[in-house]
Amino acid sequence: MNTQNQFQVRREMCDIGHRIWLKGFCAGNEGNHSVRIAEDRVLCTPTGVSKGFLTPDQITVVDMDGTQIDKHNVMKRSSEVLLHLQVYKARPDVEAVVHSHPPHATAFAIANIPIPEGIHPEAEVFLGKIPMAKYTTPSYKELGESVVALINKQTNTVMMANHGSVSFDRTLIGAYYKLEILDAYCRILLLSRQLGKVNQLTRDEMVDLLKVKEKFGLPDQRLACAPGGCIGAENQAFLATLDVHPQTACACADGQVQKPQPVSPEKIEEMVQRVTDQIMASMKS
Ligand code: 13P
Repeated sequence: MNTQNQFQVRREMCDIGHRIWLKGFCAGNEGNHSVRIAEDRVLCTPTGVSKGFLTPDQITVVDMDGTQIDKHNVMKRSSEVLLHLQVYKARPDVEAVVHSHPPHATAFAIANIPIPEGIHPEAEVFLGKIPMAKYTTPSYKELGESVVALINKQTNTVMMANHGSVSFDRTLIGAYYKLEILDAYCRILLLSRQLGKVNQLTRDEMVDLLKVKEKFGLPDQRLACAPGGCIGAENQAFLATLDVHPQTACACADGQVQKPQPVSPEKIEEMVQRVTDQIMASMKS
């Protein structure tokens, strides 16, 4: 990549950082994004600063091991660059990664409730199935390992429990759009929940939708099993608290999502007592 093109990529990284900040997807110095510019070179946002006001010279350059190449740069590369590099290594077709803490989607990650499938056409076409990685400490290499363990060649978005999201695509704007669609979808889900009812798409509707998706050049492996129910129980915890349309695209127990068992008043009292004891103990120490 020539110097002029690289400068344009740096400018775009600053613009995307500003959009992320304006949308409230990251507060303070949260979040990071990167672009792979060569086999062994990645441009990455610096650590510890708001990504809303970056300048092109602040963007850092790393190799595929995460070693910062531009030693003259006063900025240090993101503490989470290893997550990005692991995604690039697992998916050579990916050229941009955006890690963020979009509030509505992150609420699902905090509750450890996977983003449900088979509800909203936009989310199905542009995001598809969204896995939820187990919690690992930010910046550790285990963070990236937990994410790449869940991705296949069609995955473009992964939630990280108690943390946030990671979106990836061939282009930086594409990865950013995934983030935007993700948080809009989760906002819609939370609003629907307030209305008290969420209809799922039926199996036939999912078959049609995944065929349209394929026509857009976005194959989805769920199409193979769509007629018999392409959605397993693992992503449907969100629906378990709601009345669900009885005939759905879900393969689990004919679309019926198991309701969580109600917690007895004695159990609640016991939990409150335990928390109170812990608070009292920590105040004494
Ligand atoms: P960096 O500023 O090091 O990229 O870290 C931001 C972040 O989101 C930590 O979770």
